Amino acid sequence: MGVLVLRLILIYSFFSTLVYCGSSLPGNETDRLALQAMKAQILQDPHRVLSSWKDFIHFCLWQGVNCSLQHHQRVIRLDLQSQNLVGTISPHIGNLSFLRELHLQNNSFSHEIPPEIGHLRRLQVLRLDHNSLSGSLPVNVSNCLSLINLNVGYNNLVGKISPEISTLSKLQSLVLQANNLTGEIPPSLGNLSYLMILGANDNNLKGSIPSSLGQLRNLTNISLASNTLSGSVPPSIYNLSALIAFSLSQNQIQGSILSDLGNTLPNLQYFHIYGNQFTGSIPMSISNATSLVELDISENKLTGQVPNLQNLVNLELLSMGNNNFKGHIPNDIVKLSRLRRLSLQNNALSGELPTSLGSCLSLEVLHLQGNLFKGPIPSSMISLKRIRDLDLSCNNLWGEIPRFLQGFSFLKNLNLSYNEFRGAVPVEGVFNTLSATSIVGNTRLCGGIAELQLPKCKHFKESKESKESKESKGGGLSHSFILVISLSGFLGIAILLSLIFLHRLRKKKSKETEMTSLENSILQLSYSALLKATDGFSSINLIGVGSFGSVYKGLLLDDDRAQLVAVKVLNLLRRGASKSFIAECEALRNIRHRNLVKILTVCSSVDFRGNDFKALVYEFMDNGSLEEWLHPTTPTEEVRDAPKNLNLAQRLDIAIDVACALDYLHNHCGTPIVHCDLKPSNVLLDDGLTGHVSDFGLARFLPKETSNVSANQISSTGIRGSVGYVAPEYGMGSKVTTYGDVYSFGILLLEMFTGKRPTDHMFSEGLNLHNFVKVAFPERVTEIADPLLLQGDHTGRRTNDTQKKLKCLCSIFQIGIACSVESPRDRKGISHVASELQSLRDILLR
Ligand SMILES: *[C@@H]1O[C@H](CO)[C@@H](O)[C@H](O)[C@H]1NC(C)=O
Ligand SMILES: *[C@@H]1O[C@H](CO)[C@@H](O)[C@H](O)[C@H]1NC(C)=O
Ligand SMILES: *[C@@H]1O[C@H](CO)[C@@H](O)[C@H](O)[C@H]1NC(C)=O
Ligand SMILES: *[C@@H]1O[C@H](CO)[C@@H](O)[C@H](O)[C@H]1NC(C)=O
Ligand SMILES: *[C@@H]1O[C@H](CO)[C@@H](O)[C@H](O)[C@H]1NC(C)=O
Ligand SMILES: *[C@@H]1O[C@H](CO)[C@@H](O)[C@H](O)[C@H]1NC(C)=O
Ligand SMILES: *[C@@H]1O[C@H](CO)[C@@H](O)[C@H](O)[C@H]1NC(C)=O
Ligand SMILES: *[C@@H]1O[C@H](CO)[C@@H](O)[C@H](O)[C@H]1NC(C)=O
Ligand SMILES: *[C@@H]1O[C@H](CO)[C@@H](O)[C@H](O)[C@H]1NC(C)=O
Ligand SMILES: *[C@@H]1O[C@H](CO)[C@@H](O)[C@H](O)[C@H]1NC(C)=O
Ligand SMILES: *[C@@H]1O[C@H](CO)[C@@H](O)[C@H](O)[C@H]1NC(C)=O
Ligand SMILES: *[C@@H]1O[C@H](CO)[C@@H](O)[C@H](O)[C@H]1NC(C)=O
Repeated sequence: MGVLVLRLILIYSFFSTLVYCGSSLPGNETDRLALQAMKAQILQDPHRVLSSWKDFIHFCLWQGVNCSLQHHQRVIRLDLQSQNLVGTISPHIGNLSFLRELHLQNNSFSHEIPPEIGHLRRLQVLRLDHNSLSGSLPVNVSNCLSLINLNVGYNNLVGKISPEISTLSKLQSLVLQANNLTGEIPPSLGNLSYLMILGANDNNLKGSIPSSLGQLRNLTNISLASNTLSGSVPPSIYNLSALIAFSLSQNQIQGSILSDLGNTLPNLQYFHIYGNQFTGSIPMSISNATSLVELDISENKLTGQVPNLQNLVNLELLSMGNNNFKGHIPNDIVKLSRLRRLSLQNNALSGELPTSLGSCLSLEVLHLQGNLFKGPIPSSMISLKRIRDLDLSCNNLWGEIPRFLQGFSFLKNLNLSYNEFRGAVPVEGVFNTLSATSIVGNTRLCGGIAELQLPKCKHFKESKESKESKESKGGGLSHSFILVISLSGFLGIAILLSLIFLHRLRKKKSKETEMTSLENSILQLSYSALLKATDGFSSINLIGVGSFGSVYKGLLLDDDRAQLVAVKVLNLLRRGASKSFIAECEALRNIRHRNLVKILTVCSSVDFRGNDFKALVYEFMDNGSLEEWLHPTTPTEEVRDAPKNLNLAQRLDIAIDVACALDYLHNHCGTPIVHCDLKPSNVLLDDGLTGHVSDFGLARFLPKETSNVSANQISSTGIRGSVGYVAPEYGMGSKVTTYGDVYSFGILLLEMFTGKRPTDHMFSEGLNLHNFVKVAFPERVTEIADPLLLQGDHTGRRTNDTQKKLKCLCSIFQIGIACSVESPRDRKGISHVASELQSLRDILLR
């Protein structure tokens, strides 16, 4: 009790001292009034920082205020940072004429910065960043001639950077980042000779980088990222030998990286130029930039090989994705023991994953998706125990999924999609969470957790055997012989033949998986070989006439095998055919998906008359095109075959196949590809009636989203597509988008389930397939559905429940209508459509 009383007395006497001091110290009335005026503009003060700002307390004792004794208690520092204050900055601030530091950062001050700030001739530090200030940075700030540190980043400032700012000759740090500043970077900034930090990233600055910035010999940090700067980097910038951090990411900067970079910028630690249009290769001198910690050059147009990196022992981040690098991952990656993040995705890197990858013990993120890597996951990767995110999707990797991945406790995202992995999917660790692992597009996987809905693994032997057949080509066959000897007669021979056939097929498969790109590995056939294969391009073998040429069936005879192929011969007299050949080669170069027709080889040669000859050779699809199934020609031509009819479930399967193929083209492998000519005759069916999208003669690559659309927008001028299927906006010259394909898909879907072509003579004068279905929907669905669909089906899966069938048709028509609406903006994305159709199938089959 006594102690408490004593304390109270102490507190009281301290308080009365303050009051006493407050009335006795002279102070400057102007400063007091200015501070009071500032307080009056602060509307919310949740931390009650201003509770000490009372008349009876001397203002030099107010929280956040510092006075100078030498200058008769003039305010020299005001620090109200990070107090969640809401309000505006009073113009009275300009009366605190001895102020050296003003810290108002990280609050919610709004409205304009008062130009009266320009009266503060002694101000050295001005921190207004992380507020909601608007208007422009007042020109009068350039009167604060003592300023060393000016930071107005993270506000809503607009307007230009005034060239007068360069009169602040003592400035060492100028931070304007994350505003909405426009105009160009004034060349006069090159006069700020003490400048060490220049941050103007995340604005709307345009124009080129002034070469005068190369005079800023003391500059350590320059960030101009996320603007719309263009032109090339002035060589003088690479002369800034003090530079530690250099960021120009996400602009439209062109040109090549200075070849001597690694020697002229010896202190460089952060080099970020991702999301630009840099061309050329990475300079060899980069290996001399031994201080590098982060190298991010992804999303450019860089080419060539990945250079020698073994000196960059401090590297923690190496991101080179979305360029056009070729060749292998260098083995010297082994030296990069601090590497935490390695991204090399949408390149054309090839070869096997190097064993040395296992030495990058600090790796947390490894992105190698969308390359041409082949072979198995190296077992050395067992040591990458810190990995969190591993993406190997869209390559040609094969073999079994290593079990050690189950033991990686930090692994939260594993993507193995679109490869050729086979065998059992493990069930523990990352594999135990459906959302953490992605394995789609690997056709020969089994097992895994139940939610994956993969087939059960029959026995372990199968995958072992196929491995054997890859390694020792004769090995697999000897098993077969032993089996056959025990059988006899016709049956035995039949089995023997089919086993040999299977073996060859497997051999062929492994050959195919080894092909890397059209350029290097696919053998080019000669004109004469194709002439022979198609019987002199005989009309008996003509199976179709495509948009730019004719398609023939052919039999290719290799040393030890015969293979049926489809040969598309381009009519080079037709305008655009040569372009179409290149478009198709480019499109098919890097893509592979079970629902896309596989290209086997190309032929670019001269025929016997000396004319240019170009042809593409695909795998042959036994069941022809969807067109032939939807609209069979007169039965007499098809005497041998059973009448062609697809039941509801089969049609739905094919529609899903097509949607999956488009989804892959649009969303899943590198640069989005728009097909531009989807129609039933371009959907081919294999012996199992699986749909394969073909004919990429009109396909277009879309520019990356990050690049400015207007810079390289792809106009649809010249794209005709096919009447009835081509999106209406293309007719008006709108740019090519994935939504154009969605339109064609919608029409295809309506055709598949009504049996009516969009070009049917009944469609004229405003009535089209879309309206035809729309007006009948949903009450009269039975009237517009293909009558064949409503007959009992004999061949397909059982769909006894007619109600169910009708509901299914309703949903399909609904999707078809939604896809084929006139305005591209109102159409759904194809991935959405594909998953809707898939869930529909689940319901139909349940
Ligand atoms: C207070 O500051 C103002 C402005 O700087 C000055 O004119 C005035 O003389 C000062 N008053 C005292 C008492 O120092
Ligand atoms: C400012 O004043 C406070 C007391 O109000 C003191 O703790 C602080 O050290 C002073 N800061 C400077 C930079 O003088
Ligand atoms: C901003 O202020 C909040 C509290 O108001 C604080 O938690 C946060 O750390 C501050 N941020 C910075 C960058 O100072
Ligand atoms: C202080 O600043 C305000 C606004 O700029 C001005 O109206 C006032 O006259 C100034 N002087 C004093 C002594 O308050
Ligand atoms: C801004 O600066 C100009 C020129 O230096 C001066 O004439 C003007 O009065 C200043 N404005 C304010 C509000 O202080
Ligand atoms: C930036 O300014 C431009 C033009 O003044 C305006 O269109 C845009 O909406 C602004 N952006 C933001 C984020 O304020
Ligand atoms: C400032 O920079 C500009 C443009 O770079 C130049 O023309 C001017 O002479 C410089 N002024 C001074 C005072 O150095
Ligand atoms: C650059 O920095 C050095 C050392 O920090 C300093 O001596 C020099 O004055 C600064 N300014 C210029 C223009 O070099
Ligand atoms: C770079 O600096 C060197 C030496 O300081 C000088 O000779 C050269 O002209 C400068 N290059 C550029 C492009 O400024
Ligand atoms: C300089 O840039 C690096 C890398 O971006 C950053 O970590 C560092 O904080 C920056 N330094 C300053 C003073 O802004
Ligand atoms: C790296 O630096 C060394 C020593 O300065 C130099 O001899 C060599 O040519 C440089 N390498 C490259 C590729 O520039
Ligand atoms: C896996 O990779 C594919 C292809 O790159 C991509 O489309 C898909 O979104 C990825 N899945 C996850 C879960 O990251």
